[in-house]
Amino acid sequence: MASHPAVQAPTVEHHRDPFGIGEPRPRLSWRTETDAEGWRQGAYEVQLLDEEGVPLATSGRVDSDESVLVPWPGRPLRSRERATVRVRVWSADGDGGADGNSGAGAGADGSADGANGAGADGGSGAGDGGGPSPWSPPTRVETGLLDPADWTARPITPAWPQDPESPQPVALLRHDFTLRSPIASARLYVTAYGVYEAEINGVRVGDHVLAPGWTSYEHRLRYQTFDVAGHLREGGNTLGALLGEGWYAGRIGFQGGRRAIYGELPALLAQLEVRYTDGTTETVTTGESGWRAATGPALRSEIYDGEAYDARREREGWSSPGHDTAEWAAVRELSFPTAELVAPTGPPVRRTETIAPVEVRTTPSGRTVLDFGQNLVGRLRITVSGPAGHTVTLRHAEVLEHGELGTRPLRFAKATDTYTLRGGGVETYEPRFTFHGFRYAEVEGWPGELDPADVTAVVVHSDMARTGWFSCSDPLVERLHENVVWSLRGNFLDVPTDCPQRDERLGWTGDIQVFAPTAAFLYDCSGLLTGWLRDLAAEQLARPDSVPPLVVPDVIPDTFTEFPRAQAVWADVAVLLPWVLYRRFGDRELLRGQYASMCAWVDTAASYAAEGGGLWRHVFQLGDWLDPTAPPDRPAEARTDGDLVANAYLVRTAAVLGDIAEVLGEGADAACYRALADSVRAAFNEEFVTPAGRLSSDAQTAYALALCFGLLPGARQRERAGERLAAIVRGADFRIATGFTGTPLICDALCAAGEPELAYRMLLERGCPSWLYPVTMGATTMWERWDSMLPDGSINPGDMTSFNHYALGAVADWLHRTVAGLGPAEPGWRRLRIAPLPGGGLTHASAEHVTPYGRARVEWRVEDSGVLVVEAVVPPNTRADVHLPGDDPTPFTVNAGHHVFHRKV
Ligand code: BGC
Repeated sequence: MASHPAVQAPTVEHHRDPFGIGEPRPRLSWRTETDAEGWRQGAYEVQLLDEEGVPLATSGRVDSDESVLVPWPGRPLRSRERATVRVRVWSADGDGGADGNSGAGAGADGSADGANGAGADGGSGAGDGGGPSPWSPPTRVETGLLDPADWTARPITPAWPQDPESPQPVALLRHDFTLRSPIASARLYVTAYGVYEAEINGVRVGDHVLAPGWTSYEHRLRYQTFDVAGHLREGGNTLGALLGEGWYAGRIGFQGGRRAIYGELPALLAQLEVRYTDGTTETVTTGESGWRAATGPALRSEIYDGEAYDARREREGWSSPGHDTAEWAAVRELSFPTAELVAPTGPPVRRTETIAPVEVRTTPSGRTVLDFGQNLVGRLRITVSGPAGHTVTLRHAEVLEHGELGTRPLRFAKATDTYTLRGGGVETYEPRFTFHGFRYAEVEGWPGELDPADVTAVVVHSDMARTGWFSCSDPLVERLHENVVWSLRGNFLDVPTDCPQRDERLGWTGDIQVFAPTAAFLYDCSGLLTGWLRDLAAEQLARPDSVPPLVVPDVIPDTFTEFPRAQAVWADVAVLLPWVLYRRFGDRELLRGQYASMCAWVDTAASYAAEGGGLWRHVFQLGDWLDPTAPPDRPAEARTDGDLVANAYLVRTAAVLGDIAEVLGEGADAACYRALADSVRAAFNEEFVTPAGRLSSDAQTAYALALCFGLLPGARQRERAGERLAAIVRGADFRIATGFTGTPLICDALCAAGEPELAYRMLLERGCPSWLYPVTMGATTMWERWDSMLPDGSINPGDMTSFNHYALGAVADWLHRTVAGLGPAEPGWRRLRIAPLPGGGLTHASAEHVTPYGRARVEWRVEDSGVLVVEAVVPPNTRADVHLPGDDPTPFTVNAGHHVFHRKV
């Protein structure tokens, strides 16, 4: 007997915790838990309550099946306002609206070969007498400071001379103040030029790492909100903060980076607002008066180079009342930021896991190296005792070469932390304002015998919710998938980066463009990427040429001329990433918000095509970056011509923008961008394709683009192109021959060509280059190059060799959608596509994803009898189109619920 539908506590925008949010009318989403087969929502009611539980507003009963990002029912929230929201729903069949439980379900199972017809006959389950569900548990929402006028604080920086040319010590800032009692509530609104950690009365505020994170600081500076009531007391209190240079003033950028890109002076902007129970308030702000500054124990703390910490310089009790500030300096007030102060749209960076070393090694040269068994991003936490003044040095690297730490790939990043002991007992240390990409750490100067239990790796990244899983019968493919997950974790440290270890770590647009479908399956990256896209739009639209930056935040100077800024595949992120997020998270407003950015880029690209007589021609393109045959020092020298790549992408991007315009009701734009796609497609055909379907670049990526982006109008052309691709793949002995552009497409292209077994053959290939080659070499993350490590164990000689780059891991999207067979058919997973394609000798595979409607799952196994058994979980309020291989390939539709299908294969 089916249980009654239970609505889970609603979620707010894309927040994990809707506290200190920036949206005055946040949209609400909810999931309904029920095992009633075919359950669909017929209506909902959203209610707003005040803090005492008194209803403030209600949507009333809204006859709608929408449950994802539905409008806020009341008036807009003001700054600092709190509200409680709850939801209840009516089943579609409760009021005669049942449209699924019998008809479509029966049809579905009828064509499902007599398989378990759970979906067919469960129609009675949702019957709840026509009444609403119980109210969901409440979700509390609180806004931050929505209006710049809410800020009375001013940024402060230590008044001592600061040399922008060299790393500066982490500053301590403090302010004493007195409070009455009793306190009803207290909030700290805080951000920095640089990175900060706040303390009140000696206790750390919150658990964020490297706050406020990295945004396009000239345009958008993010602040955080903390509930600090529990930190405060009647009488004397102290607000303190550690302030480091971070991305703002420290060294960052391309080709080694530069210091002080955003500004020379790190600064803190903090506003503590206390409300007493009698309704009166008190505000403590950063400003010239009452604040003092001193240098702390961290002599430098840099993102690339690491931290130098002298524990003898710690100032006991520095953020508590009564601390002697006689030697402390004054602070200087800076002008209020011209950038917009924005609340977070995604989760903060946090410590998410700790990992113990698996081995202590002595290297051939006699050094001590710890192996954590996993390439990760974070830093070390050590517990040590020894004499005062003794220094322990920690060096980090991703791989060993000839048994020693392989640091050459780090280029000009020192990735070294030093800790000088205070002496006199057990000391614990973890650096604060840096992170490293490493599996191995060399420990030098450890006092006495090193006990591996005294060193722990602390994993650090944006604390997104995990939403996707995959497994299958081949352990190497499972490890490949695990490597993708680890590269995602390591490269979502507030910004979606290329790599986390060398002197780069930048938000390269092309990398996330190709990886986005994979990322959106594995983690809820919607909030983080929404914020990142706003940065992209702000930077792009501030440029006269409207070209999206190569990296966001943009730290590549205008003097950079090594190649043109306008790069296909990379700049196309402006259109293709919002589209992926819309498809995966159902956020139409995101498309609206990015629309100006999208059109600006496509209009610019169209002007290049116009200049070229219909095609974008003859400029350097990064193109199929890192084709495995490209020489180590010339990664753009791919088999597929850059012009071909650029114009294939122009067709794709213009066509997608046409679809977006239609979604947004911009009919004229839709027609115009589709016409652009058509004309570039026609010119593409004339220039790069023979009438019989050969491409001018006779290479895997060229055919993959042509087949996946719909570039070949003739059926005969498509057939011949598919045949040619298959021949090339066979001729290559199933080795991968694609770079960043072709890799996400090649398996789909082979499937489109009717050759899924070749896709499996490539997936399972172990020779170099292939997806599994790094796995056979012990990789625990995705590598930047197919051969970042050569078969002889030496590091690729190119000076651009990372062992943690997610781009080539884009194949995981195919694992999810095709190997396991779980993907979206309509925006936001409103409709699923269940289409497993067993092959390659795999005997089972499964994928699971937390969709906006709840958990979806597909699992298949091939039984000894040769029967394929597919189990699927379709979330409430959704449906699925099912495509099964075997004797009857006709697709059919099923409703929400648990389904089992059998097929003879
Ligand atoms: C990055 C890449 C990036 C490329 C483009 C590299 O240095 O690591 O991932 O997309 O540059 O030029």
